[in-house]
Amino acid sequence: MAVLGIDLGTSGCKTVLVARDGRILASATSEYPLSTPKPQWSEQDPHDWWRGLVASVRACVQQAPNEKIEGIGIGGQMHGATLLDKQGAVVRPAILWNDGRCQVECDELHRAVPGLIKETGNRALVGFTAPKLLWVQKHEPKVWKKVTTVLLPKDYLRWRLTGEKVAEMSDGAGMLLMNVAKRTWSAKMLKACHIDETFLGRLIEGTEISGTVTAEAARELGIPEGVPVVGGAGDQAAGAVGAGSVKPGQTTIAIGTSGVVFTTTAGYSPEKDGRLHTFCHAIPGMWHQMGVMLSAAGSLQWYRDTLCSGVDFAELTAEAATAPIGCEGLIFLPYLTGERTPLCDAKARGGFIGLTRLHTRAHLTRAVLEGICLGLADSLSLIRAAGTTVTEATATGGATRSDLWMQILADTCSAKIILRTGADAGPALGGARLALVGACGVKLTTACAPGPIEKTFTPDAKRVKAYAALRKHFQALYPALKPTFHAL
Ligand code: XUL
Repeated sequence: MAVLGIDLGTSGCKTVLVARDGRILASATSEYPLSTPKPQWSEQDPHDWWRGLVASVRACVQQAPNEKIEGIGIGGQMHGATLLDKQGAVVRPAILWNDGRCQVECDELHRAVPGLIKETGNRALVGFTAPKLLWVQKHEPKVWKKVTTVLLPKDYLRWRLTGEKVAEMSDGAGMLLMNVAKRTWSAKMLKACHIDETFLGRLIEGTEISGTVTAEAARELGIPEGVPVVGGAGDQAAGAVGAGSVKPGQTTIAIGTSGVVFTTTAGYSPEKDGRLHTFCHAIPGMWHQMGVMLSAAGSLQWYRDTLCSGVDFAELTAEAATAPIGCEGLIFLPYLTGERTPLCDAKARGGFIGLTRLHTRAHLTRAVLEGICLGLADSLSLIRAAGTTVTEATATGGATRSDLWMQILADTCSAKIILRTGADAGPALGGARLALVGACGVKLTTACAPGPIEKTFTPDAKRVKAYAALRKHFQALYPALKPTFHAL
């Protein structure tokens, strides 16, 4: 007996088959394209998501054909706007979380809803769903006229699986259409976006059963009809569940293309200026706060591809270890695709500041690693200032392969950084764990326990002090450069 956990990612759909005791029995990923028809646009065809789901589920089932599937939990990319007409047909490509076209609409929302941060716990950011709706209303009125349903990406998959129009609230919170404190839709935000609750459907918790797999979906997927599908979660909350961050104060730092510092909180405690995302957790009755860096490992990837083409990451990071802390006065700003936390500025830009003839490739690489960690430390500081004590964090993502990077993270964040077995299975495992709880009755603390510790990086007092001094210079750069970034 087993459950399926799904992660509807930006580059592909990953499915894992997980046994009742938490072991991963099978895993498969099916990729699909991303389209950028205009600068700052980022779109996908929801039919591709469905094809990705079908292919990855079928591949998983083939690997373990004798397992009876008892439940499904879906995690996935957050904030996307999937727009459907009254027949349930997709009316335009989905506008994704990393699309930057709607800054004007964000400003309009803040003007239209005084106290927006108090109502939603968050600022209006270009990545979020609500301003995307205003953009379509303004720029594609004929398309908007047909729209009767707005779903998040993973909730679109649920709709195809079960026929139920349901939003799950860890993800729903990132639409900017909820009163996050009350865990309900916000009448004020719905009015400002010219929609009513019928566009969005029922709002449920991550472990709640939303419906069961229809006969038609079952045929396509090669699984039995009637399997229960739980709420699941947005990919960040699902990833945290996968890594075992389900109790107050438990923190994860995920460094993939983006970088996310995620802390589980017992209550709703937003950052007063809305610089952190304050969302519902996938765990009923819990919340979380997170700081999001848009180009974390994405910055290193850009650096390698652009300036060190053909050199592998291991060689670059080994070389970086030879440069001293602070890179002899060289700082890298990781804002290559604008920044969410703490700047909330889509127009922020990256840069190397302080270059001299003395600097080598080792300095440049180390500066990139340090700049990413200093930015993540800014997010962690906001989380601490909002009232959560964080002394340790579980790290996940590609960056965990570099000991140097993990040690810099521990020293810049002044927190013990822990690597755990299985934590990288991430959102798909989180989805499966939510299904174990909601569909199979496994105890939450059993299903969602953190994995065994593989490695620990302890902050060193001297280095923590050196990085705290460096961070003052790092933090001074954005305000000084902001007018230039905006003019550029
Ligand atoms: C979270 C966020 C990303 C996307 C894509 O706020 O925007 O994590 O969910 O992974």
